[in-house]
Amino acid sequence: MTDLTILKNDFYNTFNANCEDIFFSPGRVNLIGEHTDYNGGNVFPCAISFGTYGLVSKRNDNKFLLHSLNFKELGTIEFDLSELVYNKEHDWANYPKGVIKTIIDHGYSIPTGFNILIYGDIPNGSGLSSSASIEVLTATILNHYFKLNISNVDIAKIAQEAENKFIGVNCGIMDQFSICMGLKDSALLLDCNTLKYKYSPINLDGYKLVIGNTNKKRGLADSKYNERRTECETALKELQTVVNISSLGDLTIDEFEKFKDSIADSTRIKRAKHAVYENQRTLKAVQALEENKLEEFGKLLNESHISLRDDYEVTGTELDTLVSLSWDQKDIVLGARMTGAGFGGCTVNLVKSDSIDEFIEFTTREYEKKIGYKPDFYIVDISDGPRKLNL
Ligand code: GLA
Repeated sequence: MTDLTILKNDFYNTFNANCEDIFFSPGRVNLIGEHTDYNGGNVFPCAISFGTYGLVSKRNDNKFLLHSLNFKELGTIEFDLSELVYNKEHDWANYPKGVIKTIIDHGYSIPTGFNILIYGDIPNGSGLSSSASIEVLTATILNHYFKLNISNVDIAKIAQEAENKFIGVNCGIMDQFSICMGLKDSALLLDCNTLKYKYSPINLDGYKLVIGNTNKKRGLADSKYNERRTECETALKELQTVVNISSLGDLTIDEFEKFKDSIADSTRIKRAKHAVYENQRTLKAVQALEENKLEEFGKLLNESHISLRDDYEVTGTELDTLVSLSWDQKDIVLGARMTGAGFGGCTVNLVKSDSIDEFIEFTTREYEKKIGYKPDFYIVDISDGPRKLNL
């Protein structure tokens, strides 16, 4: 647990003012349903106990002064409500800035600026959504202070819009939605086409979700994320010449197999195949979990990874190594896959609760032998969404 007293002192030392409130916004881990959100499919993520803390005091002028303890070397970043434009030098602060601008663009009034001290315990670039976490945090702070009455679903949409338009990453809605709607001990089955969702309690009877970090960093913006999205959009257009669908998520597996030859390129067939099969796999996985069929759930996690590796091609040596080391430990691991956008970042593993130490020790040793540096492991709780903390 992060020590809030230390953070309050840091706030005072940074801004020479007392902190008025502390907010928290979680990160998320996606259990299954990867690269399906922008394809109109299902996802099954949950908010986690790691997240971003925001300590704030309202200012009497139009200035935002932002300071992150995770990027101390960048110092305090300052901008004015009248200059909400992307600035490369403002680095991480473009995320909050984009959210402020998007909220204003939606017609809400932000009358003053703030001092905000940020501290995140989500490892940056690990695929646990540190960026969506800070976006949602910013909107939550403004929503609270100016009584904007924006619902959490709309906060998710605004945060996604900021990331798409201001940051330039064409992400889907999964991260922002799962963070905004997080519920303790439950994962969220979200249909990204309709935004209908339901909670599914996570009872892992003798097993735990262990997150493995490859420690290979990736940034969404410079990854092949946008390229995959375009490939799927092109495949969709090709399929639409033969079948009446609005997204790849509309197709059953049988329909896909019947119509796939309308896609002119073999790489695009693989991309679309992943989107369709992963979408159906997600529904099966949620059902397996609800029926307490943990082994089946684990197998579906494995299948998801294979599809992301071979058809969607978003894994890479580090993720594949970490996952296959989990697969090697069949007696204590029911399933493992990459989570998030891929190209580095984290894996999610279903590990026997009383064998976690053994799992971490073996995997760390073997991963280091193969990759040359160590992975990290986190056992996180499934958490509620964004909130104001007691001072
Ligand atoms: C990133 C994006 C999400 C989603 C995942 C892949 O986390 O922000 O919208 O597309 O990748 O499932």
